[in-house]
Amino acid sequence: MTTTNEATANPPDLDDLIARMTPAEKAGQLTQYFYLGAMAGADETATPAEGMAGLAALVEASVRAGEAGALLFVTKPAAINRLQRLAREETRLGIPLLFGFDVIHGLRTILPVPIAMAASWDPPLIEEGQSMAAQEARAVGIHWTFAPMVDIARDPRWGRMIEGAGEDPYLGAAVAAAQVRGFQGGGALDAFTGVIAGPKHFAGYGAALGGRDYDEVNLSDSELWNVYLPPFEAAIAAGAGNVMTAYMDLNGIPATGNEWLLEHVLRGAWGFDGFVVSDSGAVRDLATHGFAKDLGDAAARAVNAGVDMEKAMFDAAYTRLPAAVEMGAADQRAVDASVRRVLTAKVRMGLFDAAYVDEERAREVLADPTHREIARRVAERSAVLLRNEGNLLPIDPSNVSTMAVIGGLADSKRDTLGPWVFDFDLGETVTVLEGIRNRLGDSVRVSHAPGPLIPPRVFPSPFDRMDGGPAPIPVDYDEDAEFRRAVDLATEVDIVVMVVGENQNMIGELASRSSLELPGRQLELLQAVVATGTPVVLVVMNGRPLDLRWAAEHVGAILDIWYPGTRGGEATAGILFGDVSPGGKLPFTWPRTVGQVPIIASHTLSHGPGEQGRRYWDEASTPLFPFGHGLSYGTFEYADPSVSPASAPRDGTVTVSVEVTNTSKREADEVVQLYIHQRHGSASRPVRELKGFQRVTLGAGESRTIQFAIGPAERRYWNAAVRDWVSDASTFDVWVGGDSTATTTATFEITKD
Ligand code: NOJ
Repeated sequence: MTTTNEATANPPDLDDLIARMTPAEKAGQLTQYFYLGAMAGADETATPAEGMAGLAALVEASVRAGEAGALLFVTKPAAINRLQRLAREETRLGIPLLFGFDVIHGLRTILPVPIAMAASWDPPLIEEGQSMAAQEARAVGIHWTFAPMVDIARDPRWGRMIEGAGEDPYLGAAVAAAQVRGFQGGGALDAFTGVIAGPKHFAGYGAALGGRDYDEVNLSDSELWNVYLPPFEAAIAAGAGNVMTAYMDLNGIPATGNEWLLEHVLRGAWGFDGFVVSDSGAVRDLATHGFAKDLGDAAARAVNAGVDMEKAMFDAAYTRLPAAVEMGAADQRAVDASVRRVLTAKVRMGLFDAAYVDEERAREVLADPTHREIARRVAERSAVLLRNEGNLLPIDPSNVSTMAVIGGLADSKRDTLGPWVFDFDLGETVTVLEGIRNRLGDSVRVSHAPGPLIPPRVFPSPFDRMDGGPAPIPVDYDEDAEFRRAVDLATEVDIVVMVVGENQNMIGELASRSSLELPGRQLELLQAVVATGTPVVLVVMNGRPLDLRWAAEHVGAILDIWYPGTRGGEATAGILFGDVSPGGKLPFTWPRTVGQVPIIASHTLSHGPGEQGRRYWDEASTPLFPFGHGLSYGTFEYADPSVSPASAPRDGTVTVSVEVTNTSKREADEVVQLYIHQRHGSASRPVRELKGFQRVTLGAGESRTIQFAIGPAERRYWNAAVRDWVSDASTFDVWVGGDSTATTTATFEITKD
C-alpha cells in the first residue's frame, strides 16, 4: 500500500475514488467498528474507559490505516471530531468516517419508548419526536441511527417488543414511515438536521421461537408478506437510507446471508437504493449458525448476498474480503457495489464538505428547552387509560388533602427513561412522584413509600455495565418493614397512586421472560394496599403487557404510562389531575396470561369453538384488553357507518364515512379505527384487519364525520397458494369504533370488474 496522501476532492468522483482504493481500504470502508471508549460517563474526548483501551487502540489503528468506514457508540462531539480528524487528515485518501448510534427514543432528551409512541396512534407526533431526536444526534456528530425497529411483535415474552410498534402491520407501517421521515428530515436526507434511518432487523426477528431473543424464526410465506414485511416496505418507501439485517435464521437461512431477502425483496421488489449493514457480529455469526465454514466464507457469503457493511465488535470478518476475492469466493463486483453505496451515503450526508461538528452548537441544541416540551407532549399522548371504573380519574385535587405514591418505580429516574438510552441527563428527568408533587404544590400532602425493592434480573443486562446498572441492595435492607410501611401509609391517606411494572433493564434486548407476572412482591403489595379500602389508581411502567388480571378486577383505575422519558412524570401528573385527557390506544392485544401467547386481533376464523366460545378449558380465549383499547375522559358515540359506492370493481375505491360525537362535557381525543373483513375469496382472511385510523380531538358535544378510503392497496393480500398478491371479488364487512371490538358496521361489495 502506498503511503502518499492522495486526499479526495469534495465531493469526490466516486469512480475515480473506488479505482484508487486498495482491497484492504475497500474492506475497511465496509466495516463499522464498536468504539466503546466514548460511552456516557467517559470524558468529552472519549479517552477510552478502563478495560476498553486495548480495543479502542486497535480501532484507532484501523482508522489511521484508512481501513474503517464507520464507528458506533461515539456520542461526544469532541470525540467525534478527534476520530474524524484521524480519518480525514491522517489517511491516504481522507475518506470521512460515518458515525452511527442507537438513537432509539432520543439522545439527550428522552422520548417515551417506541412501543409507547406507537400507542399514541399519532404519526405526525411521532415524526416530530424523532425529528427532535435526529437534530440532537446530528448536532453532536452522529450521522446515522439504528432505528426505527419495525419488527412486528406478537409474543410479549420477547423483550424487544418495547422497541417496535406492536402486533399490527398497518399501524406498524404508519409508525415506521413516520419515524423515517422524522429521522431523515422529511422524505429526503437533510444532511444537517437529519440522520440516516436504518429500519431493522430485516426480517422476521420479532417472531423468535418461544419469544427467546435471537432464536430462530419460521414464518409462512403468507405471514412474511402480509404481516412482517409491510412495515419495512413502508420505511423504504419513506426514503430510509439504510437497512439492518437480523441475527436469526429465517426459515433456515440466516437473515445476514439471505440473498433472497436482500436482493430479491429489498432491492428488487422495493427498489431500495441505500446501504445494508449487518447487526453487530452477525456476519461472524454466519459461521456460528453452521452456514459458513469459516470467517472468510462468512464475509464472502454476506457481501455476495448484499450486506454492504459489517457491524463488528472486534476482528471483523470483512478484513478477510481481499483474500476471499482473491480466491474467487467473494465477488469483486459485489464488493465494489457495496463500497459505492457506503461512499454515496457519506456524500449524501455532506461529509466530504463538512466532516466536523461545531461543539458549541451541539451544546446549544442539546439544551434546547423546546425539546423537553416535545418529550412531555409525546408522553401525554402515549399514555393509555386501561380502566376507569366510576370515573376515579381524573383526580380533583380539591377533593383530596393527602395522597400516597407507592412503589419503587414511582421515584426512579433511570427507570422513568426506559432502556436503550445512554446520553441522558438524570438531573432533568422528572419521575412520577416529582411530577405529582410539582403539580400539586402545597395543596395536598404527598407521601412516598417505595415498598419492597423489585429483585434484580437473574443475570445482569448487557447494558447495565454501560450505565452503571441498578444500585446494590443495602445489607441491612428490611423488605418486610418496607412492605408494612407502604401499607400503613395507604391507610392514612385519601388516595393512593401506586406505580408498578418492570425495571427498565428487565425489558429490551436480551430481556426475554418466561412469565408476564409483575416481578417481586408488587402484586402482593397491591393486594394489601387495595385491602386498606383507600381508593387506588394503578400506574403501570412497562414495555410489554404484564399479567394484570387481578388489578383489572379489583383496582378502580389503571393508567399505562410505559417508560415515559425525560418529562414522563410531568406528563403523568397532567393526566392524573385532568389537565390532559388520555387518548392512547394499545398497539397490541393484552393477554390475560402468558399461556394465551400469541394472541392477536387479526386471527382467522376456523372450526368451533362451541357454545362456550372458549378454546382453553382453564382460561378465557379473549384477551384482558383488546387491540386498540384505550379510554379517555370523554365519551364517544359512533353513528352507523355508510359506504359509498356500495359496490365497486377490483381496482376501485370505496369511502367509509362515520359520524363520531363526543358526548361528554370536556374536550377529549379519540382514535377512530377502521377494520375490514373479507367474507370469502381465494384464501381465509382475518376476522378483522386494521385498515385505517385517525386520532381526532373533539370538543364537548362536538360531532365530526370521519372518512376512510378503502382502495386496492387496503384489500390486496399475499396469497400463499399462487405466491403472489391477489385482490378478490367479495363481500366486505367494515367496523368503525374506538377499538378492535367495535360494533358499528356496514358492508360493501367488490365485483370482478
Ligand atoms: C444489536 C442490536 O440487535 C441492534 O438492534 C443494535 O442496533 C446493535 N446491537 C448496535 O447497538
